[in-house]
Amino acid sequence: MIKKCLFPAAGYGTRFLPATKAMPKEMLPVLTKPLIQYGVEEAVEAGMHTMAIVTGRGKRALEDHFDVSYELEHQIKGSDKEHYLTEIRALIDHCTFSYTRQNEMKGLGHAILTGETLIGNEPFAVILADDLCDGEGNGILSQMTALYERYKCSIVAIEEIDPSHTNRYGIIEGKEIEEGVYKITNMVEKPDPEHAPSNLAIIGRYILTPDIFQILENTPAGKGGEIQITDALMTQAQNKTVLAYKFKGKRFDCGSVEGFVEATNYFFKKSNL
Ligand code: UTP
Repeated sequence: MIKKCLFPAAGYGTRFLPATKAMPKEMLPVLTKPLIQYGVEEAVEAGMHTMAIVTGRGKRALEDHFDVSYELEHQIKGSDKEHYLTEIRALIDHCTFSYTRQNEMKGLGHAILTGETLIGNEPFAVILADDLCDGEGNGILSQMTALYERYKCSIVAIEEIDPSHTNRYGIIEGKEIEEGVYKITNMVEKPDPEHAPSNLAIIGRYILTPDIFQILENTPAGKGGEIQITDALMTQAQNKTVLAYKFKGKRFDCGSVEGFVEATNYFFKKSNL
């Protein structure tokens, strides 16, 4: 049973400047909830209640969001506005939140390695909250933990993308061992379309076994001068099984303005607002 979920949230979020100048992009709201809250809700649905957040700038906004605001609660207690805080209050009561800071932005792999101090020696989930997902039936992480129970290995979520967009993602090559589940044989970070081994792109959901930390420690900077989780997973895949799972549901790249607007429209149509 996986209990902990890591949220790397230290990136600069340059595509959303100036909104992300003083707060992380994970605090951008889709409707009334910040992206990170959707991520935490997905982790809770998958049975996790220990949330580990890797922060950079804007640490305070994240910490305050997952903390009780006594003054605010006191102000609206008994009023018709009280229900606005019900969901977040339930998360705060149900989960523990801990934070560590990535001092240098050396990439996603480095951010995950920074989280080791909060995770320890156990398998864990990773959510990139700027990939906002709406699972079909169960949430994406729930679908992945069910698969983990059967295979007990690292798993990345994948999606078929437009082949001209391979240079935005980690791309996998693998052998399909059951419907929608691939044993990874190769992985390349952001290849040009002509060099991409497939159009199966890794999205922001992972389940990782803890040996990944030692691999990350020994992973040199790769594409873009950053320590890439894709490179570490490729090393792991050379020695043991690493799976890619074609999730059931929808994903929005909320790190881009276009994806963010799409997500906002999608969730607005689904909501009662
Ligand atoms: P992105 O590749 O989207 O980078 O990171 P970014 O810096 O956040 O955004 P842009 O490209 O400048 O607009 C993917 C995820 O990895 C985290 C980010 O917070 C995001 O959730 N990340 C990335 C870190 O935590 N640390 C890093 O050094 C890099």
